[in-house]
Amino acid sequence: MQSTGGSMFKALVLDQVDGKTRSEIRQLEETDLPEGEVLVDVAYSSLNYKDGLAVTGKGKIISAFPAIPGIDFVGKVASSADARFSAGDEVILTGWGVGERHWGGMAEKARVKADWLVPLPSGMSARTSMLIGTAGLTAMLCVLGLEKGGVTPDQGPVLVTGASGGVGSVAVALLAKRGFEVVAATGRTSEEAYLRKLGASEIRSRDEMAATPRPLEKQRWAGVVDTVGGTVLARAIAETLYSGTVTACGLAGSHDLPVTVMPFILRNVRLQGVDSVSCPVPVRTEAWQRLQSDLDVELLGDLGQEIELEQVPDYAERILRGEVRGRTLIKLSS
Ligand SMILES: NC(=O)c1ccc[n+]([C@@H]2O[C@H](COP(=O)([O-])OP(=O)(O)OC[C@H]3O[C@@H](n4cnc5c(N)ncnc54)[C@H](OP(=O)(O)O)[C@@H]3O)[C@@H](O)[C@H]2O)c1
Repeated sequence: MQSTGGSMFKALVLDQVDGKTRSEIRQLEETDLPEGEVLVDVAYSSLNYKDGLAVTGKGKIISAFPAIPGIDFVGKVASSADARFSAGDEVILTGWGVGERHWGGMAEKARVKADWLVPLPSGMSARTSMLIGTAGLTAMLCVLGLEKGGVTPDQGPVLVTGASGGVGSVAVALLAKRGFEVVAATGRTSEEAYLRKLGASEIRSRDEMAATPRPLEKQRWAGVVDTVGGTVLARAIAETLYSGTVTACGLAGSHDLPVTVMPFILRNVRLQGVDSVSCPVPVRTEAWQRLQSDLDVELLGDLGQEIELEQVPDYAERILRGEVRGRTLIKLSS
């Protein structure tokens, strides 16, 4: 990472020292950035659970050091060697291994492949798009998964687990707006008022959800958005109604799934995996358009907080401890 000229910018840089991940704010130059067709002036990045794993080194997220983390960002194109984008265009990036295998959004500038970018939906502000970010996109992909499974509000309540986290909060808001009765499962009963404001009509405790389920439990849920995995997901599946759909996108609790085949072969339950990282562009574009039309902008103010790049290491620890509510924006260049 030698500085050889060009305009300086601020970045959070991760290094590996004695087998441990260390983070530091550094001044870099454009020539330090990796190859890519599009140079972006980053306006906002956001802090996702995966970023928490990367910045603290508690998960093997970063493939080579030094690295800039940040799995998502929004900003203005500074220059582009690809005809699809021109200087001044506002663009969003989520996933594709950015902030993992490729330098990410926790810097005032990023250079990426044009194929990875989607235009900021018209009428959506850059700030709003990162309040939504990877977590919100994933929540929308889960909602699309429930819709594909034929889940409708008249069939019964839907369950959202890890409800006060980023994915969970947006999922609660989206499902409530579409007329679903939303039950929010949370380990933080102190967040009940927040979850009810987002549209949850009932709160279920994480402890209740984490109790080891029998192969089949009392049928409760027409659909599920699970961000937690483990016994919580196993119980959600065992409690799903005949022909219901469970979308699984996260592992905030565990990557295990201690379930039997009974819900699938006796209740026709569908388990739908959800991935936002390599999700094809047409699906992303549809999801962003749906976020634009479905998400109640009045609620967005309640959904998150804004931090500076310097605060990221502290918030990275906090998100892994399950202490961060909703979404966390990281302000970069304006
Ligand atoms: N598949 C994908 O493409 C994709 C995309 C984005 C995120 N994810 C995954 O989805 C999950 C949520 O991401 P996020 O950014 O929303 O993270 P987040 O903001 O930290 O939310 C996770 C929530 O899970 C709950 N939780 C935390 N630790 C737990 C534990 N030990 N047991 C049970 N519940 C626990 C907490 O909610 P309560 O306090 O309300 O219980 C926490 O707020 C993560 O595993 C992330 O890696 C996957």
